Amino acid sequence: MTPQIRPITAQDTYAIRKEILWPNGPDHMIVITEDDLSSTQHLGLFDRDNHIGVISLFTTNDGRMQFRKFAVLNSYQGQGAGSLLLSHIIDLARAQNVTQLWCNARIDAAPFYTRFGFSFRPENFFKSDVEYKIAYLDF
Ligand SMILES: CC(C)(COP(=O)(O)OP(=O)(O)OC[C@H]1O[C@@H](n2cnc3c(N)ncnc32)[C@H](O)[C@@H]1OP(=O)(O)O)[C@@H](O)C(=O)NCCC(=O)NCCS
Repeated sequence: MTPQIRPITAQDTYAIRKEILWPNGPDHMIVITEDDLSSTQHLGLFDRDNHIGVISLFTTNDGRMQFRKFAVLNSYQGQGAGSLLLSHIIDLARAQNVTQLWCNARIDAAPFYTRFGFSFRPENFFKSDVEYKIAYLDF
């Protein structure tokens, strides 16, 4: 399987965000206010017509880009789809002259980001009952 990456709308991200990231809510973690900014980019991963993954990119005036709500359907995890999407985002950030790509990384996903050269801020923090730390890649 070599998934395809395509632009999608904010609406298109919500089902996978909910199923994979916040199956029990809260709803404000699934639909966020920045989703509808004109500078926000939403990308989907597709296996033929099946929508299997999402990521959303938010740029700020300081030249940095944050990715949020990165998720691959359970049945497609561990097969390289997430790596394909993250590699694409890193290339995109470089092409857009972003100075830093960063995210609030779930602790469980930290080894995944390490493989791509991300560094981590030392502090951990919680959103609902999920533990995070900031992962960043400087260009
Ligand atoms: C984190 C996430 C987006 C990564 O996507 P993914 O498609 O699972 O990622 P990959 O398959 O590219 O890599 C993940 C693992 O599969 C392994 N892998 C990569 N390519 C593989 C392949 N072709 N075959 C088998 N395994 C592979 C990787 O080595 C990695 O192993 P790990 O368990 O040591 O981390 C996904 O697992 C996910 O949605 N997790 C739940 C939500 C989440 O935590 N999102 C991130 C929030 S910060």
